[in-house]
Amino acid sequence: NKPKTIAIDGPAASGKSTIAEKLANELGYLFFDTGVMYRAVTLAALRRLGNVRDEQAVTRLAERVWIDVRPPSKDDGRKADVLLDGEDVTWAIRSSEVDAHVSIVSAYPGVRAAMTRQQRRIGERGEVVMVGRDIGTVVLPEAELKIYLDASLEERARRRYLENKSRGMDANYDEILENLRKRDEIDSTREVAPLRIAGDAHVVMTDGLTIEEVMQQVRKLAHIE
Ligand code: C5P
Repeated sequence: NKPKTIAIDGPAASGKSTIAEKLANELGYLFFDTGVMYRAVTLAALRRLGNVRDEQAVTRLAERVWIDVRPPSKDDGRKADVLLDGEDVTWAIRSSEVDAHVSIVSAYPGVRAAMTRQQRRIGERGEVVMVGRDIGTVVLPEAELKIYLDASLEERARRRYLENKSRGMDANYDEILENLRKRDEIDSTREVAPLRIAGDAHVVMTDGLTIEEVMQQVRKLAHIE
């Protein structure tokens, strides 16, 4: 009996979206990466407000922006198209500028409330693999399968470095490692919906494992033969 709703959480660059996308494809489910929503709000705030310091203004923005996530329209490595008020921001939301500010924005309770509402609406339809930090704990606590994907900070920085380089983006290993460390710290210590392992989650440590080796473990958990 395959789980209808699957929650995948874990720290930054632990391979969540890569694994979740593959799993969703094998199951014929929707793949939904909630991180892109927080990234899109952050991009909107940086562009329209100039910074992310004004919690009230950022929250109002989060309640008004229209974020849409669709199957990829181009074959350039994107996992989904992300639209912000109709504009394609798929790559813009992965900039180091957004990386540096997204954890501040996602710690604002009003922003989380607005995003969580939309995520639940999508998750409750079922046949979905949803990825984030608080999916198993807050967004979809009833998910039938919860996976917590983890890896050491150095391994995650190495993966993100190689990923950025392969996309022709500027990549500095030390900067990437420092950004991941900071984001993890803010994400795990915030008041509302911090990153933590749900009591009923299966933890998968991925250091030294290939994507296919991680998939073998995940398939077992999802009862895919
Ligand atoms: O997964 P990704 O690294 O793209 O997420 C970007 C940021 O969005 C995280 O560092 C975190 O601050 C925030 N986030 C969150 N809750 C989620 C997904 C992402 O707070 N469910």
